[in-house]
Amino acid sequence: MTRSTLAARLQEPEQPEPASSGNFQRTGDDRDRFHVAIIMDGNGRWARERGRPRVAGHVAGATAVRRTVESAPELGITTLTLYAFSSDNWRRPQGEVGDLMRLFQIHLNSECARLADKGVRLSVIGRRDRLPDPLKRAITHVEERTSEGTALHVRIAIDYSAREALLVAAGCVAEGIRPTRQAFERSVHEAIHAPRGTRDVDLLIRTGGEQRLSDFLLWECAYAELFFTDVMWPDFSEADFASAVQGFAARDRRYGGLSRTRLSY
Ligand code: FPP
Repeated sequence: MTRSTLAARLQEPEQPEPASSGNFQRTGDDRDRFHVAIIMDGNGRWARERGRPRVAGHVAGATAVRRTVESAPELGITTLTLYAFSSDNWRRPQGEVGDLMRLFQIHLNSECARLADKGVRLSVIGRRDRLPDPLKRAITHVEERTSEGTALHVRIAIDYSAREALLVAAGCVAEGIRPTRQAFERSVHEAIHAPRGTRDVDLLIRTGGEQRLSDFLLWECAYAELFFTDVMWPDFSEADFASAVQGFAARDRRYGGLSRTRLSY
């Protein structure tokens, strides 16, 4: 499937609005046409297979992040959301958590100018209050510096829990009052860091051989196509990425309706 075929596929007329309120991309920004999310799993096993410490897997994982971000625009991707640290990952040994926080900070600082040059906007989703101050500063800096980017929106999820975000949304509607659907959706969009105009996830990729969602983008993935691969994240190549996107382009997205070829029933 060529890029232009994929682009044509993504511009096909929309299916009717599903009963589920999750597909808020229909009111969204027309430029946001293809949202891919990735659960980057397998760094630890990649390192173990090589007799190296887990942090070596995370460092190699950061290189894979750069590679993936660079190849995303070529694949027609307009929003790329990467799961870097779940709220449950705080349970890992302190040393590993510290290594990861430092790695995020170093990576954001070192990639900042490059991202800005390439027109990539970077933002971080998730809780910020528990992050170390140097990382918080790096996030603020990169978000400000890249805020005008329009070539690609990269969202990195750090201290992220989809359930937590939905609970926050539920808590934001006035206590004791049954919210209207619109009021609740507004609250959800705010809590999940997806202002109206942010597109639902079209394709969710998980590396590392597991086949689960791990509390990632539960609302936005209501109609996502899922792609699981045994490739460990540090090994995830441009070719692997392109092949996942090609597989997506061939899928028949029905949103609960009928396939286009069967609409004459
Ligand atoms: C899951 O693999 C990966 C993580 C918890 C960390 C993700 C971090 C990176 C990809 C590195 C840098 C990221 C950025 C944004 C610069 P795992 O450690 O759970 O692997 P395992 O299942 O093999 O143990």
